[in-house]
Amino acid sequence: MIPSTIYKVTALLCALASLLLVSAPASQADPFSCWLVEEVGSPRTIRQTPVLLIFTDESRVTPEPPVTMEPGTLLFYVSDPSMKLLSPDFSSCEMTFHLPQEVPLNWVNSLTAEKVSPPSLGQTWYSLSVKNDKEEVAVSAVMGPLRAAGDKKDHLAVFLAAYSTSVTVYAQLGKPLSLPCGLWKGPQPRFAVEWRHRSQGDGKVLYAYDGWRDRIEEELTGYTMNFSTLHSKGDASLFLEKVEASHEGTYLCITYLPYLRAQRDIQVVVTAKPQLSLLPSPLFARPGEEMTLTCEISHFHPLEISVDFLLQLPGETSPSLQPGTSLSTHGLNQDGTYSVNAYHRFTAKPAHHGARYSCLVNHASSSKPMSRTQNLQIAGVSGPSIEDGMYLFMVSLLLYGFLSYLHRKVKLFFRSPGQVNDKQKKVN
Ligand SMILES: *[C@@H]1O[C@H](CO)[C@@H](O)[C@H](O)[C@H]1NC(C)=O
Repeated sequence: MIPSTIYKVTALLCALASLLLVSAPASQADPFSCWLVEEVGSPRTIRQTPVLLIFTDESRVTPEPPVTMEPGTLLFYVSDPSMKLLSPDFSSCEMTFHLPQEVPLNWVNSLTAEKVSPPSLGQTWYSLSVKNDKEEVAVSAVMGPLRAAGDKKDHLAVFLAAYSTSVTVYAQLGKPLSLPCGLWKGPQPRFAVEWRHRSQGDGKVLYAYDGWRDRIEEELTGYTMNFSTLHSKGDASLFLEKVEASHEGTYLCITYLPYLRAQRDIQVVVTAKPQLSLLPSPLFARPGEEMTLTCEISHFHPLEISVDFLLQLPGETSPSLQPGTSLSTHGLNQDGTYSVNAYHRFTAKPAHHGARYSCLVNHASSSKPMSRTQNLQIAGVSGPSIEDGMYLFMVSLLLYGFLSYLHRKVKLFFRSPGQVNDKQKKVN
């Protein structure tokens, strides 16, 4: 062999080796703690067993076990081609046993039409559910025996995953809504997607799609799915044309492969921002008069709401919370929103002339508190308040503007006609 060729080959081998060294650690993440949850005994109790998951790829079948492991911990090597479980943010993890089975639903029937189930179905399968702290990402996966590992029971692979980018979705009443759900199914061409809605014990199928036969089997009006993104990217999101109050509840995105299923649930909270008014408006009172302030809060959703009255006396820099707020019983509007009145009683004191009363509302529909304010005017109390001074200033400003405008007009009026004609010519 010519020396130059030897050098080339060695260089190539070195490059390959360094490539392997660099890529190997990336494929192996830190062990991931989980719990295996099962019902045991009679009467039934919940048993939780600590589990350690080590993510590997299929080519590296027997990686090193972690050095520290509590006794009684189960260890699994998981190959995750979906790459959905390899996020460092996941804080809660739960595993349960998964029983592969045929599903007697029209949109799932075709997936198992041959009635020949693979022998691996007889082995142990697991469902895995992970969420991150902020509840932004959640994944449900089905794990089964890794084929390359033969009959090693501690080597698992992800076969199906359903994931979503939100656990709770706040939906504005009257607006369109997209409920996020993704499906990872590997190379398996047979799949189905089903969306269900559950609210107060009631459940119904909103949408069902047989992806293998490319057929919509169930479809309620107002709901759609995008099949091109479903087939190309696994995006199984459900679109709602217009959010109504009755759309609140739990949505289940259920994904099927032959004999397997994974589901994600999403909570939908329908929000509508309240309309506020603080009465009486304007707020006039005689000295010593018993007054009732009414804060009308209407057309909001959901029902939970907090209302406070604040008072800022003249000369004070910040308002203070007033005790003694009462609430009316709530009314239900035709569109499913609520209305309620809040009351605050007080005795008008002359010293409170110019005080600012506010009604402050906190509600899920708005990240900031909402408020309405009225200035208390006590009859017979003289002396301009700050507001009066501001009004005077604004009036004089307007008057000045008006007068200078008039002044210019009058000057124009008294100009010679020749000057005016010159101007018009220029314009033309
Ligand atoms: C589906 O999604 C694709 C890509 O986002 C978009 O171009 C297409 O218009 C969508 N189809 C429907 C029917 O909304």
